[in-house]
Amino acid sequence: MAELLHVSDITAGYGDGPAILDGAHLTVEPGKVHCIIGPNGAGKSTLLKSICGMLTIRKGDVIFRSKRLNGMRPDQILREGICFVPQERALFPKMTVRENLRMGGFIIDDHKELHRRVEEVLERFPMLKAKADEFAGTMSGGQQQTLAMARTLIIKPSIVMLDEPSLGLAPKVIQEMFDIMKTMSAEGITVLLVEQNALMGLKNSDWGVVLDLGSTLFEGPAKEILADPRIQELYLGGKKAAA
Ligand SMILES: Nc1ncnc2c1ncn2[C@@H]1O[C@H](COP(=O)(O)OP(=O)(O)OP(=O)(O)O)[C@@H](O)[C@H]1O
Ligand SMILES: [Mg+2]
Repeated sequence: MAELLHVSDITAGYGDGPAILDGAHLTVEPGKVHCIIGPNGAGKSTLLKSICGMLTIRKGDVIFRSKRLNGMRPDQILREGICFVPQERALFPKMTVRENLRMGGFIIDDHKELHRRVEEVLERFPMLKAKADEFAGTMSGGQQQTLAMARTLIIKPSIVMLDEPSLGLAPKVIQEMFDIMKTMSAEGITVLLVEQNALMGLKNSDWGVVLDLGSTLFEGPAKEILADPRIQELYLGGKKAAA
């Protein structure tokens, strides 16, 4: 299948600081779930931030649908259809669930259309509908993560990038988050996530990317990564854990 997004050996860092990414590459195919794994400080979050325009790319390219994204602002990249949910979820805790969903559509000028989309998303997530007028900050971690993911749907994105969506959630709730991602991908939305729990992330993904020290060591079908003894040893907690 044709690539949707291609990141070719990029170099990027914060401000004038040292390069954090150097030789990071990534292939994203439409409608699949992609999972970036790697140790703490590998540059996983930095890679997502580079794709969505929060960092300057010093070398290499980010190509989305044959268009070069390097140098574009985050809001321009969002308008292209690439939505980023950072690790801290970036909800507005003192705004209601409905208001948070409206904020997700800040690039939509047509108010009626925005209203329609917000109600559509609320219909899709009964839990959010039940809490539509409650402050986001009063909800549980899983409910907040659901809201953060649902909010991306307002702009009908092509790619949703999620940084550690499972962070701080109970195992049962984590599976619910992966199920939402799978539904999104079944509907044609491409998912690119960073996951601390590499095993769980890969088991729920089609494609895996191993990032270490700012560069991509390996990318390929998640099943192949899970079966690779070297990767099992280094990144998946040994053979037994991956069995
Ligand atoms: N805002 C920042 N300014 C300067 N350096 C940063 C900034 N954020 C991260 N770094 C540095 O970039 C490197 C990679 O960090 P990054 O957050 O991308 O790693 P990560 O793979 O997401 O790690 P983790 O698993 O802990 O989330 C680290 O050395 C970190 O100190
Ligand atoms: Mg991170």
